[in-house]
Amino acid sequence: MDELELAAVQRAVVQRLEDFQRAGLSHWKRIQPVVPEPTPADAELSRRSAATASAPHAPPVHATPSLFTEPSVQVTSMPKRSTSAVPPSVAAVVPAAFTPLNLPRDERVTQLKVLQDKVKQCTRCQELASTRTQTVFGVGNPEARILFVGEAPGADEDKQGEPFVGRAGQLLNDIIKACRLKREDIYICNVLRCRPPGNRLPSPEEAGHCREYLDGQIAIVNPDYIVCWGSTAAKNLLASEAPIGKMRGKFFEYGRAKVVCTYHPSYLLRNPAAKKDVWEDMKFLFQDMGIDLSAKT
Ligand code: URA
Repeated sequence: MDELELAAVQRAVVQRLEDFQRAGLSHWKRIQPVVPEPTPADAELSRRSAATASAPHAPPVHATPSLFTEPSVQVTSMPKRSTSAVPPSVAAVVPAAFTPLNLPRDERVTQLKVLQDKVKQCTRCQELASTRTQTVFGVGNPEARILFVGEAPGADEDKQGEPFVGRAGQLLNDIIKACRLKREDIYICNVLRCRPPGNRLPSPEEAGHCREYLDGQIAIVNPDYIVCWGSTAAKNLLASEAPIGKMRGKFFEYGRAKVVCTYHPSYLLRNPAAKKDVWEDMKFLFQDMGIDLSAKT
């Protein structure tokens, strides 16, 4: 093996280990693998991601955007949670560093724009500010009931200025479609707004610098639900050291939002078997909204 090949193998091994780290793995343990039977919904999610790989512009199916905007006429069957009492299904309440705002739509748009302009000028992380092509703020519905938090922009996002537009983003779009939604129904952002060189993990300092922006976006959009995609999002938002596998299947509370933690789409690209777990997590969240994703439409 020559030096170039060796370097390529080393890069692949490091990337794989980072995947495991992102998925919350902190040590190895010898276990017998248990492979549950995939449900029809799992099969559908896998089928759609395979189909999208060959037909990236396949039209969305079952789009029901009305479920994801706030007008009361569309959500009358979904009672709002009480903001004071903690429901028994909530695993932990994390005090948010902000007061959620309840702004009219045009004010949300204005406030997000003000924050985005501030982010564009940001040089808190010297390395990131000097290597980024542009900042990647966030996109989506300023009145979304669900807000997604990823890790950090990658090369595609750095180029296009939008979160989740690369391969992981394509898979995220498939998951959104499987949930009968459109990308525009959700608000999507990341722990970081600049690409870490080489797609390395965000450092705690970088995440700390960007926290004001993340909290600002959450406060303005004021979602009912937050999905943390991967352990970087989960650990940062909830200040938790638990592995992502242990954070799945329960609600945390951040401010007034219920938070679900699941695997990052990049992890799913390398470990498609985990798609069934993410599908379970989506069903868990939607069940709480009064929507049965297993039901035929
Ligand atoms: N991965 C992320 O976590 N965020 C993005 O925006 C893209 C890839």
